[in-house]
Amino acid sequence: MDHSATTPVLREVADSVYNAMTLYFGNASEPHTLGTESNRLLEDSRKTIAEALNASPEEIIFTSGGTESNNMAIFGTIEAYFRRGDHIITSEIEHPAVRIPLQILENEGFKITYLPIDKYGIVNPEDIRKSIQPDTVLISIMHSNNIMGAVQPIEEIGKIARENEIVFHCDAVQSYMNIPLDVRSLNVDLLTISGHKVYAPKGVGALYVRNSVKIAPQILGGGQEKGLRSGTENIPGIIGIAKATDILSPTISKRSQELSALRDYIRDSVLSQIDGVLYNGHHEKRLPGNINFTFQDFTGESLVKKLDEYGIAVSAGSACHSSSPGGNEFLISMGICLELTRNSIRISLGFENTREEADYLIDCLKQICSSNIRSSSIYNSSLKEKYFHF
Ligand SMILES: Cc1ncc(COP(=O)(O)O)c(C=O)c1O
Repeated sequence: MDHSATTPVLREVADSVYNAMTLYFGNASEPHTLGTESNRLLEDSRKTIAEALNASPEEIIFTSGGTESNNMAIFGTIEAYFRRGDHIITSEIEHPAVRIPLQILENEGFKITYLPIDKYGIVNPEDIRKSIQPDTVLISIMHSNNIMGAVQPIEEIGKIARENEIVFHCDAVQSYMNIPLDVRSLNVDLLTISGHKVYAPKGVGALYVRNSVKIAPQILGGGQEKGLRSGTENIPGIIGIAKATDILSPTISKRSQELSALRDYIRDSVLSQIDGVLYNGHHEKRLPGNINFTFQDFTGESLVKKLDEYGIAVSAGSACHSSSPGGNEFLISMGICLELTRNSIRISLGFENTREEADYLIDCLKQICSSNIRSSSIYNSSLKEKYFHF
């Protein structure tokens, strides 16, 4: 139940990756049969990803994953459009693969506007409009958040960016194959996806780059991927993400409905059967498999360890930056105090999670909460009055 951190590779995906490693291992740049076979598989995979996003194949650049795609989008844009200015708009809740590159730019003198979020974790598009300056060069807002699953109004934000002719990047790592994504109706210029969140291997991803948008290459060398991302292509990984897309794409709506029902079942059961639990975030505008709870008497870390003893994997905040000390920055920016953010867990469901597993999770949480592993006196009633307000 930690699918937002990563997913198991599907059997059919693993088989096609294995075939690519053993049978179609040619270098896609070579003109001989082995090479041209690999090149055909590479281009077929590009078509598959493009179709899933309603993009053209030449708009898909394969990368090593979400982190590289985000870095490429940010550094590639500011380099290509450096004459336009040095102001960037983003949100307070971006993944570190966006936030850290922007902090680096800020240290170098760029002006960064970090937009706040509402109590559900959602950015107000009007705040974007108000923040635009004559020298705004880039807007980067994620499609859905990796901690609380908040789905952002990307279409509206994209419209504002387009009206103002500002390059718009969207990190859609958590949404890809969980929510339908159409780059044309979303009005995005750059969009990031990653393989290992969608039952494909780690170390592969892609960046959608709209035809009319320029980015400067950040990895230089042999000129692969239209010169935008040099390096011999990771054909097994690329075939893996394409195969996973082939399998998952037709069932996005069905899976989303089923996952949302399981998510809401866990939410309702936990809230009605366990005292002192807060459900964070919006009821509908969130990823279908995302649940985020704050437990008034337990730290997230203690719950993660305890649930692990029961064989259940969940996350305290975000696995992506679990090494950072202190609480979960996202919940902090929503106004929940630091102490209580330490008491949060993220449960992220995948399509293979069953109702029986959900019942097991609920029972385990009930058992843990009725035992005496309470955290130190983090919680007190005045904090409850102050912060448990929605
Ligand atoms: C929203 C978001 N963006 C980017 C990434 C980084 O992706 P990758 O692990 O493929 O580098 C993650 C991974 O956790 C993520 O959740």
